[in-house]
Amino acid sequence: MKVCVIGSGGREHALADVLGRDAEVVVTPGNPGIPGSVATPPEELEADLFVVGPEVPLVDGLADRLRASGRRVFGPGADGARLEGSKAWMKELVAAAGVPTARHGTFDSVEPAHAMLDTLTPPFVIKTDGLAAGKGVVVTESLAEARNAVGDYLSGVSFGDAGRTLVIEEGLSGPELSVLAVCDGERAVLLPPAQDFKRIGDGDSGPNTGGMGAYSPVPIVTDDVLSTVMDRFVGPTLAELRRRGIDYRGVLYAGLMFTADGPKLIEYNVRFGDPETQVVVPRLTNDLAQLLAEAADGRIRSEPTVSDDAHVTVIAAAEGYPGAPRTGDVIAGLDAVAGLDGVAVYAAGVGSDPSGRLVTAGGRVLDVCGHGATIAEARQRAYDALGRISWPGMQFRTDIAGAASLPS
Ligand code: AMP
Ligand code: GLY
Repeated sequence: MKVCVIGSGGREHALADVLGRDAEVVVTPGNPGIPGSVATPPEELEADLFVVGPEVPLVDGLADRLRASGRRVFGPGADGARLEGSKAWMKELVAAAGVPTARHGTFDSVEPAHAMLDTLTPPFVIKTDGLAAGKGVVVTESLAEARNAVGDYLSGVSFGDAGRTLVIEEGLSGPELSVLAVCDGERAVLLPPAQDFKRIGDGDSGPNTGGMGAYSPVPIVTDDVLSTVMDRFVGPTLAELRRRGIDYRGVLYAGLMFTADGPKLIEYNVRFGDPETQVVVPRLTNDLAQLLAEAADGRIRSEPTVSDDAHVTVIAAAEGYPGAPRTGDVIAGLDAVAGLDGVAVYAAGVGSDPSGRLVTAGGRVLDVCGHGATIAEARQRAYDALGRISWPGMQFRTDIAGAASLPS
C-alpha cells in the first residue's frame, strides 16, 4: 500500500515511521528532517490512503476535497472537524450526547462573561471558541486575570477571530488522560492511552503549549477505564454525530480529566495528538496502514494490538516558545543519537540552511523519544539522547514521566 501523510511535524514523522513498517510512505509537505518528504500538494499525489495530520486543514475541509476527487482518506470532513474547530459547538453536541463534561457558558460580549465568572470558584477556565494551536486556554486562580483574559479574547487582541467567541468552564481538577479512538463512522477502536504535559515549565508551571512531552502506557489505566471511555464518551459522541448526519472517519481524540466526580471530557480533537502519537503509535504491533484504510472505508475489521513496551517523548523547543520562537539555529548532536538503542528522534519544527544543515524552524523543534521495558528505562533513554543534542536557547522540561509526575 502507498500512504500519503499530510503535515509537517513530529506527529507526522512518527506516523510515517510506523506506517513505513508495512507500507510505502510519502509525507507532504513534511520537513527536511522527515525522510520521504515531498513538496507536491496532496491533491496532486496518488496514493492508496491519505492520512491528514493537523487540525487546520481538516477544519478547512481538506478531507472533503480529497474524497470528492475519489481518494481514500483517513480524517473527518469539515462537518465532524467542528468538534475541534468550535469549542462552543463541541460543548453543545456533547451535552446532547449526554457525555460528562465541565459546566460552561458561551459568550461574545464582555458583561455576561464577567457575570458568569462572578458565579464561579477558582480556578477560572477561559477558552477560545476557535483554533489556537493548543494555546487558547487560560486556567487561573485570579479573578482579575480571568476578567482581563475575557477582554483580550473578545477584542481579538489575544487570538484574533478565534477568541471573539469564548467558552468559560467550571474549573475541574484531577489527572488527565488522552485517548485516541480510530473511528469508521459507526464503530471505534481505542489506541493505548497516553498522558501529555501541556505547560511549558517543570511542575506544570507557566503557559499552555501544544505539548512538551508524553508517555504511554499510563499506570492508572485499567480495562475498566477504557470501557468507560468507550461507553460514556466515544460511543455516545459517534452516535450523536451520526444522528446529525455526520460520517466521522478519523481519530477522535478524547482529552479526559479524572475528577472526584468521575471522568469528564476536557476537549475533543479530531486528529492524532501531538506529542501523544509519538508514544502511542510505535506501541502498535498490527499493520497501522491496514487499520486506517479500513476506517477510511467505513468498516474496521482489525483490532489494534499493542506491545507492553513503555515509550516517553520529551520535546526540545526553541527559545521564546510558546511565544514567538527564535529560529535558524543549527541543531547539533543528531549524528550522536542516530544509533542509540531504544531511541527515536522525530523532527517537528525543523528546516535546513543553504548548506543543507538541519536548523530550528518552529517552536517545538524535536521530539526525543525513548522506549524500553519500563517507563523509567524509556525516560532514561530519552533524556540521555536529549543530553547529546543542542542549539542556542534550546529548552525542555526535566520532569516528563518522572516519578513525581505519574498519577497514583
Ligand atoms: P484544552 O486545550 O481544552 O485541552 O485545555 C488545555 C488544558 O487546560 C487541559 O489539558 C487542562 O489541563 C486545562 N483545562 C482545560 N479545561 C479545564 C477545566 N475545565 N478545568 C481545569 N483545567 C482545565
Ligand atoms: N497534545 C495535545 C494535542 O495534540 O492537542
